[in-house]
Amino acid sequence: MNVPFHRPYITEDEINAVAEQLRAGWLTAGSRTAEFEDAFSRYIGCRHAVSVNSATAGLHLSLAVFDLQEDDEVLLPVVTHAATAEVVRYFKARPVFVDIERGTHLMDASKIEEKISGKTKAIMPVHYAGQPCDMDEICSIARAHRLHVIEDAAHSLPAWYRGRAIGTAGDTTCFSFYATKTLTTGEGGMICTGDEERARRLCVLRLHGIDRDAWERLRSARFWQYDVVEAGYKYNTTDIASAIGIEQLKKVELMWKMRRRIAERYTDAFKNREELIPYTVKSDRVSAWHLYPLDLNIDALKIGRDRFIEEMRGRGVGLSVHFIPLYEFTYYKRMGYSGKEYVNCRWVFERTVSLPIFPGMTDEEADYVIENVLDIVQAGRR
Ligand SMILES: Cc1ncc(COP(=O)(O)O)c(C=O)c1O
Repeated sequence: MNVPFHRPYITEDEINAVAEQLRAGWLTAGSRTAEFEDAFSRYIGCRHAVSVNSATAGLHLSLAVFDLQEDDEVLLPVVTHAATAEVVRYFKARPVFVDIERGTHLMDASKIEEKISGKTKAIMPVHYAGQPCDMDEICSIARAHRLHVIEDAAHSLPAWYRGRAIGTAGDTTCFSFYATKTLTTGEGGMICTGDEERARRLCVLRLHGIDRDAWERLRSARFWQYDVVEAGYKYNTTDIASAIGIEQLKKVELMWKMRRRIAERYTDAFKNREELIPYTVKSDRVSAWHLYPLDLNIDALKIGRDRFIEEMRGRGVGLSVHFIPLYEFTYYKRMGYSGKEYVNCRWVFERTVSLPIFPGMTDEEADYVIENVLDIVQAGRR
């Protein structure tokens, strides 16, 4: 049997919606995109949802609306996707890494304050694997130090923190609709915010700094007229992507339940094994289960993480690692970053793998993964 790391959950609904959109003849952002934004904001319960063509674009625009400047500092977890840090570099500002917790792999809120300096402008919590960060603690630190909170919610649709949906707490929250994400449009993203003026500026910035988008202009009498009010970007989505997004959003909780079922099956199988350290979700929050991280107890094993991945791959199971710590990359090494102080990050990185988890994954596929994990660690016991 082969179990891929991911398989998108695309049905005839998405296929028909795309065909219909292509036949309608409007391809770029238009009424479908407005409809998707509206449905998304209603689902999350946020005031404004601004669509973009990736979460990276959303994070970039979020920093732009807060006027990040050269040499400013932005706090973010040391374990995240390259995108979270690179957008800070777009401004020649400095990403300041915060260590993670071992059990949850989340940014350790108790280590944020010691990293704040006179140059700090924002905190970018990452809801790793779909699990919300300690948002009450993070928002209260941000308030005390007058910092912006930009949530990297690329993994966390849908997710809830103390009963509140992710997308309602930070100054902006950025979701990703990349191919493997919990809602996909192939590529895409959404920025949620509660502030009307900020939402308006995000809309201007996402399309060349133009004061009105193509759809809005077409419907007005002076359709040909527009103004460029600042240097913007080309970050709009398309109605083709939004047509997919609308269909995906209708089943977002169904897809989440399918992921959660796999996660429960894994946790159940791995919880009492000495060779394994199952991933922890704190009791006051609900994970989107974008990823299922599993840490190997390498002290009880003769094999390391890399060998484990090779063996699983040899048995037809696709695994991954989330993430290579940012200080491991040449670009950040060149800037002088090192892993010395990130003790928990180093501990996790030596041990962690991400198992396949996706909606539509069958019980047989999950059992095949479990069987092979247990078989390999049993054979690899010290
Ligand atoms: C934590 C995190 N942030 C941001 C991104 C970037 O998302 P996108 O590909 O939509 O730009 C990713 C993508 O995988 C991610 O995992």
